Amino acid sequence: MNAARKYAVESLSYDVLVIGAGGAGLRAAVAISDAGLSVGVVSKSLLGKAHTVMAEGGVAAAMAHVDADDNWEVHFRDTMKSGHFINNARMVELLTTEAPERVLELESWGAVFDRTPEGDIMQRAFGAHSYRRLCHVGDHTGKELLRTLQNRVTHLGVTFYPEVIVTRLFLIDGRIAGALAYQRRDGHFLLFQTRAVVLATGGWGRLYATSSNSWESTGDGTALAVTAGATLSDMEMVQFHPTGMVWPPGVRGLLVTEGVRGEGGVLVNAEGRRFMADYDAERMELSSRDVVARAIYREVQAGRGTPHGGAWLDITARGSDFINRKLPSMRAQFLALADVDITRQPMEVAPTCHYMMGGVRVDPDTCTTAVPGLFAAGEVAAGLHGANRLGGNSLADLLVFGKRSGEGAAAFARQAPSPPAVSTRQVQAEIDRVLKPLERVDGPSPYQLHSDLQQLMSHHAGLARTGSALSEGLYHLLELREQARHLAVPGGTLYNPGWNLALDLDALLLLGEAIIDSALERTESRGAHFREDCPAEDPAWAQVNVVITQDEEGALHVGTAPVVPPGPRLQHILSPLDGQSTAGRTGS
Ligand code: FUM
Repeated sequence: MNAARKYAVESLSYDVLVIGAGGAGLRAAVAISDAGLSVGVVSKSLLGKAHTVMAEGGVAAAMAHVDADDNWEVHFRDTMKSGHFINNARMVELLTTEAPERVLELESWGAVFDRTPEGDIMQRAFGAHSYRRLCHVGDHTGKELLRTLQNRVTHLGVTFYPEVIVTRLFLIDGRIAGALAYQRRDGHFLLFQTRAVVLATGGWGRLYATSSNSWESTGDGTALAVTAGATLSDMEMVQFHPTGMVWPPGVRGLLVTEGVRGEGGVLVNAEGRRFMADYDAERMELSSRDVVARAIYREVQAGRGTPHGGAWLDITARGSDFINRKLPSMRAQFLALADVDITRQPMEVAPTCHYMMGGVRVDPDTCTTAVPGLFAAGEVAAGLHGANRLGGNSLADLLVFGKRSGEGAAAFARQAPSPPAVSTRQVQAEIDRVLKPLERVDGPSPYQLHSDLQQLMSHHAGLARTGSALSEGLYHLLELREQARHLAVPGGTLYNPGWNLALDLDALLLLGEAIIDSALERTESRGAHFREDCPAEDPAWAQVNVVITQDEEGALHVGTAPVVPPGPRLQHILSPLDGQSTAGRTGS
């Protein structure tokens, strides 16, 4: 079939194309527009529908509005420690030094933060932050951040393409030349000719059965990047947020913000005991996410779980006035979805897949990847968070590195000569590829395959792992990959969710394999990566990132790269923690 003749292909041209309209993509678009270049933003969903909104509790920035002793060095230390020292230290330095400025800038663009009595931006406590550091807007900070950035890009006249899904990045002479996408609302294809692309496509939390992520989080951008020649890093580091809803089943995994614990909520097991005392007596509920998530997991395994397999999270002691003021969305969420009044009753919670620390390796200062002309920022990029992300650092990440990626891409596009036009032959080949599931009459359903993949990842590569379970998982995943080659979907290209999912599965299967390969490689426990068969940190892995590349036949290759350490200028900040980075500790 000559697919290009059957389906219209509209050709568009921008200096820079931004893929993804969450916080990182929008902040990048602002920077590109400020640089005076043309920018188009494509989003697979509607404007405002991004995982950014699931960072509810706040944006981490050492403003010292509430705790005067806070500063960027303490934030740097907290972030490195929480990442178990495999973070890229230069990225952490940039994040912690620049976050306060980015927050103030956001405020100047209209973000309405909660206030201290003195009128400064209010900051709250969050897990493993040494001070009250999270600037917040009640319990819907991510939503306010996105609203503000949307206003900004609209004001700047940036062109936005909602419900447009990119399936291929085109390279000519080894550098970015364009991208092919389809538009859900009319089923047509769009060919973007461009000098540079910023990937801001978020994570791939839909790989897991219990997830705080919405349907968009399938890692398409990450798969596009590795297929184009970028390197992935730290793919074994999957963050399970300790508190997702567990009941009723239809909302299992929905986020319960860490802000609840930040505002004094306590975790209690079925025996009525505040069990965090057994896992981190000093920080209790405000320990790091990896520790709290594993503690809940352990309580459930030991038979001390709640009726639906979780723990109780209780904030009733704070009283209804306080809860209504500081946690209005949580109150409404539990009332509407679970018939639970959190001012009088505890919430039932359990770990939920929330965030990917791994992703595309980038240069810290410019966010460039190994592919000339390709940049990445936000959750899609690796390095900043190491083995475990601190809550609130994701919103800071997308402001700091969204801006830097936009500036990096603009600088590249400005000096790069125009790439040759993407050929009709390249476009045709890609259209033929993506239409295959629609042309088959018989074959597996993408819905069944997705469900099988989610079960597989949850059981074999979830919060607790073993070498044998991972190996078995890899074997079954490769079987699913083979099945995916024969997927059949009825209908056409117009608003066809089954077809969308069939294409998303390419990315999910690739990234699932990358997670398992990396988890098998790292034969220790560190941060979010917990191997029951090797439960201690191993000094041999203390300075190592696991990396993944893909060859031209599509096979993945796993390897290692040395961690980017703090330079001499930063060493003194970590000296109080000497010994921790290499000590053999258990992953309890
Ligand atoms: O719990 C939360 O509000 C999530 C924040 C984050 O992931 O940064």
